[in-house]
Amino acid sequence: MTIRIFEDDAALAADVAQEMVKLVQEKPDAVFCLATGESPMRTYAAMVQLAKEKDVDFSSVNFIGLDEWVGIPRSNPGSCYHFLHERIFQPLGIQESQIYLFDGMAADLQSQCTRMNDHIAQLGGIDWMLVGIGMNGHIGFNEPGISWDKRVHVADLAPITQTVGQKYFQSEMVLKQGLTMGVQHILEARTVALLANGVRKAAIIQSVLEGEVSNLLPASVLQQHANALVFLDREAASGLKNSCFFTT
Ligand code: PGA
Repeated sequence: MTIRIFEDDAALAADVAQEMVKLVQEKPDAVFCLATGESPMRTYAAMVQLAKEKDVDFSSVNFIGLDEWVGIPRSNPGSCYHFLHERIFQPLGIQESQIYLFDGMAADLQSQCTRMNDHIAQLGGIDWMLVGIGMNGHIGFNEPGISWDKRVHVADLAPITQTVGQKYFQSEMVLKQGLTMGVQHILEARTVALLANGVRKAAIIQSVLEGEVSNLLPASVLQQHANALVFLDREAASGLKNSCFFTT
């Protein structure tokens, strides 16, 4: 696990954007699995801008969604589908054939899981997964208590996830379940990038990075990942006690 700490979110976003664009330059058919939420917003804007400035060819890149709210239509601005289209796919002119996202309105959620598992296998696995962290230490919708051996699955959302998740929607929504990559896919991704910004993430970041690895804090599993990159702004890093982490 490598931890990079930046003065602010703009510096963090610039660095992550460079990593993402570099991967596409080196591997034009790279497979990205991307989170939504507040944490990566500036990063995605920086990545789109950099890709345009450098005129990088994204036409062979594959994109997979990390998760989706069950019961939320794709047209809802709070859906992960809408978020990724608006912030990445439309600005970069990504074709639908390059994109594979969950459908939170599907009648058969189990087949959504099977199809996503098959799709990832067909692509040869995930090269670069970008995740945020929930206030309870979740990654994707892998909530506290999750078993490490799960792949794509339907998750019952923790009460705090149901509450915090309201911030993405214009009116109150019922958020009981989510579709998500499991911890197995997280561990198998060739690189996992965890992004956290803001002081509200300081306590949970300290617990998952410096505490015991435990399924009660799902993001702590990244301590065991061979190639996990943790990008923090100074505020999110402010609870860390181990000064050797302050490497950048
Ligand atoms: P956020 O969400 O980026 O909006 O803070 C992160 C998460 O809950 O995984």
